[in-house]
Amino acid sequence: MSRKPFIAGNWKMNMTAKSGAELIAALAPLVKDANCDVALCVPAILIPEMTKAAAGTNIAIGAENVHWAKNGAYTGEISAEMLKEYGVKYAIIGHSERRQYFGETDEGVNKRTLAALENGITPIVCVGETLSERENGTTEEVIARQLEKGLQGVEDIKKVVIAYEPVWAIGTGKTATDGQAQETIAFIRKKIGELFCPMCAQKVIIQYGGSMNAGNCKGLMAQPDIDGGLIGGASLKLDFATIVNYDK
Ligand code: 13P
Repeated sequence: MSRKPFIAGNWKMNMTAKSGAELIAALAPLVKDANCDVALCVPAILIPEMTKAAAGTNIAIGAENVHWAKNGAYTGEISAEMLKEYGVKYAIIGHSERRQYFGETDEGVNKRTLAALENGITPIVCVGETLSERENGTTEEVIARQLEKGLQGVEDIKKVVIAYEPVWAIGTGKTATDGQAQETIAFIRKKIGELFCPMCAQKVIIQYGGSMNAGNCKGLMAQPDIDGGLIGGASLKLDFATIVNYDK
């Protein structure tokens, strides 16, 4: 079953309009022959400028979140319609930093995911366990819950990208081993098969995220169930191009 690999960056709260546009200009020639889909998810305020910077390249621009309501009294939030106006193709949803620091819940993740899908934006739904959850053996239980609740009511699961991001590997320089990442992502695919259908599960793109870098990307990408990466720190520099070209 062939799945087109997908490497996306998550700039988080980094870069400015100037440094971001410079980075995209430098990355564009380096990633132009990529065999995978390529995206950069950027802070909302940078979307208009980054969309311009990426015009005519194979780098798609994504958002780092999206609200579930069409519009209304939700100070500080951004709707799918606002994102669509700038041609945004992807939105990260339920990143562990949103869950940890901003109180986002599986129910909210679900509403945001459905709103993105309704508006033709591909949600990149993040799941993953904390260090204590891994250590006390509840990784699969936690991820099963995040998938069940977060993806409830999704009609076409093939339109969703899942990112497996073990919280203990994010920004710590401590990557999951190839085997750990493969094992958990295979579990995610099996669970998607149970919740939706086994055939659809074979088509869903599942990324790994957490200290993925130019040095470890080849090993991770060689795993049969790992279809891509969601890259934090390494997407802020030219290393991102090395990851995109992991197969060359
Ligand atoms: P790092 O690559 O910096 O560990 O971040 C991963 C991540 O959270 C991507 O969403």
